[in-house]
Amino acid sequence: STDQQLIRESWRKVSESPLEHGLVLFARLFDLDPDLLPLFQYNCKKFSTPQECLSSPEFLEHIRKVMLVIDAAVTHLENLHCLEEYLTNLGKKHQAVGVKVESFSTVGESVLYMLEKCHGPAFNLDVREAWTKLYSTVVKTMSSAWEV
Ligand code: HEM
Repeated sequence: STDQQLIRESWRKVSESPLEHGLVLFARLFDLDPDLLPLFQYNCKKFSTPQECLSSPEFLEHIRKVMLVIDAAVTHLENLHCLEEYLTNLGKKHQAVGVKVESFSTVGESVLYMLEKCHGPAFNLDVREAWTKLYSTVVKTMSSAWEV
C-alpha cells in the first residue's frame, strides 16, 4: 500500500474513539516530559499531577482539539498545504503559551506510542515511517513561528 493508505487504515480505528486514544497519547507525553504539565493552565490554575490534568474537562477539550487537527491532516493528505495557514497560526499560539519547539518531537514519539498501543504488531515499520513523515510535515509548518 501507499503511505496514504497505511495512514488512513491505521487512523480509522483511532478516530472511532479519539478521546480514549488521545488520553494514551498525553499520558505518555507527561511520562516522557513531566515539565509540560505546567503549560496547561485553565483559569490560571496549575495541575499538581498528570492524573489531575488528564481528568480535567478543559484538558480533555485540548485532547479533542489535537485529535481533530490530526484528523484534518489525515483527511487532507493529498493536499496538506491547504492547512498551512491554519498550522502556522496554531504554531504561533503554542509559542505564545510557552511551548518549546523541541517538545513537538516528544509529542511525535507519543503519537507513535499511541498508534502502537492501538494496533500492536500491525503497526509495523512501514506504517511507522508513513506517520513519521506526515507528523514531521505538520510540525515543520507549526514550527515556522519559532524561526527568527
Ligand atoms: C491550544 C498546549 C500540542 C492543538 C493549546 C493551549 C495550550 C496548549 C496551553 C491553550 C489552551 C487550550 O486550548 O486548551 C499544548 C502543549 C502541547 C500541545 C503543551 C505539547 C507540547 C498540541 C498539538 C496539537 C495541538 C500537537 C495539534 C497538532 C491545539 C489546538 C488548540 C490548542 C487546536 C486550540 C487553539 C485555538 O484556540 O485556536 N495547546 N499543546 N496542541 N492546541 Fe495545543
